[in-house]
Amino acid sequence: MRLRRLRKTDWMRRMVAETRLDVSDLIWTCIVSDSGLDRVDVPSLPGVQRLSVKALVEEARKASDLGIPALAIFPNISPEFKSEDAREAANPKGIVPEAVRAIKKAVPEIGVIVDVALDPYTSHGHDGLMEGETILNDPTVEALAKVGVMLAEAGADIVAPSDMMDGRIGAVRDALDDAGHADVSIMSYAAKFASGFYGPYRDAIGTSTTLKGDKRTYQMNPANMNIALREVELDLTEGADMVMVKPGMPYLDVISAIKQEFARPTFAFQVSGEYAMMKAAGANGWLDYDRIMMETLMSFKRAGCDGILTYAALEVAEKLKSA
Ligand code: PBG
Repeated sequence: MRLRRLRKTDWMRRMVAETRLDVSDLIWTCIVSDSGLDRVDVPSLPGVQRLSVKALVEEARKASDLGIPALAIFPNISPEFKSEDAREAANPKGIVPEAVRAIKKAVPEIGVIVDVALDPYTSHGHDGLMEGETILNDPTVEALAKVGVMLAEAGADIVAPSDMMDGRIGAVRDALDDAGHADVSIMSYAAKFASGFYGPYRDAIGTSTTLKGDKRTYQMNPANMNIALREVELDLTEGADMVMVKPGMPYLDVISAIKQEFARPTFAFQVSGEYAMMKAAGANGWLDYDRIMMETLMSFKRAGCDGILTYAALEVAEKLKSA
């Protein structure tokens, strides 16, 4: 037997490929800012900019024209709007609902996913409300449910709670249904690990300098697999339509186990640190950025993902088109 027969030519390799990467696999993660500036570079995320609503709409148009099915919005909030109780998160005139309305109006054919989380809005940078040193679970869940409804009202298609509080999926689902938004989906950040790979994101949204302590009492221990399965099971029971694993590349085993166990729409978040690492190695000439980006995205597909949230969605979509 000679297995190399199947690798001899490009057409043969393509013909027997088990996994494919398509533009429909990409969800573009983008950052909207209330700074008043149109485009501001983020040094630790080369190629990613904090965008005004106007600039974001322009990019959403491009993303949609390239065939990208959806984008996921994260906010960079000015310090004056941050507070202990994160009240700006529920403001229907806030930057995120404004961005959602603008995109839905100008580019109605692209799906809009919104993060439901308090961290961009808290003065301490945590995803939950605090009492002393403690992150409060149930009051946070209550606040998140209100944020979810407000964002659904603004036109979001999918809400994505990313806080890792217990019981939030059920609470958000109930709140959406009660408010008449039964058709708004939930993508749960079901297995979200307390990771060192989030650094550049925190730079981008402005929480790296304000975050006090770490998130280990609510995000998962990177050592754990069984708990990841329980988190997913619970979120699905509570009404999640799809689940996500975050970060991506260091957790391919978790993605694979989840897909095999539950067979539900399963996504990976290729987080800021994964992206920045590859960009940095590419810029130094140590690795071929284009090639490793494609290789890592393919690895998510091979592991069983239905799609990948990535900062690289637009450049990858362009590459796929010209390939
Ligand atoms: C928290 C949140 C995080 C990211 C998005 N929302 C992680 C965190 O700050 O703990 C990370 C995204 C990335 O690194 O690209 N709600």
